[in-house]
Amino acid sequence: MPTQNTSTNDRIVLVFGATGQQGGAVATALREQGWAVRALVRNPDSERAKALAGKGIAVVQGDLSDRASMRNAMTGVYGVFSVQPSSGQGAAYNVTDADEIRYGKAIADIAVESGVQHLVYTSVNAAGAEKTGMGHFDSKAEIEAYVRDLDLVATIVRPAGFMELLMLPGMGLDMGVFTSFVRTEQRAQIIAVQDIGTIVAKIFASPDRFAGRTIEIAGDEITGAGLQDSLSRAAARPIAYHRFPDSLLEENPFLGRLAALFDDGRLAGNADLAALRAEFGKLTSFDDWLNGPGRPLLQAALNAGDAPIALR
Ligand SMILES: NC(=O)c1ccc[n+]([C@@H]2O[C@H](COP(=O)([O-])OP(=O)(O)OC[C@H]3O[C@@H](n4cnc5c(N)ncnc54)[C@H](OP(=O)(O)O)[C@@H]3O)[C@@H](O)[C@H]2O)c1
Repeated sequence: MPTQNTSTNDRIVLVFGATGQQGGAVATALREQGWAVRALVRNPDSERAKALAGKGIAVVQGDLSDRASMRNAMTGVYGVFSVQPSSGQGAAYNVTDADEIRYGKAIADIAVESGVQHLVYTSVNAAGAEKTGMGHFDSKAEIEAYVRDLDLVATIVRPAGFMELLMLPGMGLDMGVFTSFVRTEQRAQIIAVQDIGTIVAKIFASPDRFAGRTIEIAGDEITGAGLQDSLSRAAARPIAYHRFPDSLLEENPFLGRLAALFDDGRLAGNADLAALRAEFGKLTSFDDWLNGPGRPLLQAALNAGDAPIALR
């Protein structure tokens, strides 16, 4: 039985993006805590949707561009987990920043209409009052502000970069190098996707404690030198860390802007890791992730041929 201060078994949480990373982690963690979970999916016949159903998650067909389907999915639900695809994911979803904003606002509007009692919206660590100049971060700041203006009990989490993102092909691991934004001695925060699930499930379990809060979340912090050590240990072979060369950052405005946001600290993150551990319990370190849930991704990256960089 769950130990939280809310009776969960008869309450439904509707999870968006449950066939994806964050929504999948949230849906799984909520199920494990005894919640009734409903997932809005585009294709209930997909393997990922079937896997959700296999975990006891009720799957309903819908689409973020179809408000009637979202209203239908939100009927009778207690809570909503809100996540949207973004332009930062490139060709994966082919959405614009305007699409992301429209989807995020629509979920919040329909949550109000439907009498939802607690909405958790997942944003990004770089979102804040000051614009970043990156469309898929500023979109999230706009959705955050919209949610805060509604008559809606809401908690906003702002995750750091996902550990999973570090394993995308094209970072060079298969060639014994790893290339990223962080400088050799600069600290940057990261989070395992499964920890987003753990944290969000705890937030739903204690609405009184978390209502109205905006929480930057991360599970660990690494430096470029630390990445080199951790990756070399986990791969059992030398991996040399390099920051993206300045010439590349100058040529590619998207990568250049991301690098600038690491340099000014916003994308490197400012989460209070000690406070997060006190509030949410043990969070996954990068070393534990590499030797645990991240092992298959690490193995695939070590074995991958070189491929273009895709960023989320
Ligand atoms: N990567 C990072 O380090 C990082 C850090 C902070 C924030 N973010 C943000 O996280 C968000 C993405 O989250 P994620 O990585 O968990 O997503 P993801 O794994 O890419 O999954 C996206 C989910 O959205 C669903 N979806 C896409 N279009 C849809 C539509 N039109 N209607 C209904 N569902 C739709 C997909 O369902 P299907 O199965 O139907 O495709 C899938 O379940 C982005 O906004 C990104 O900017 C990323």
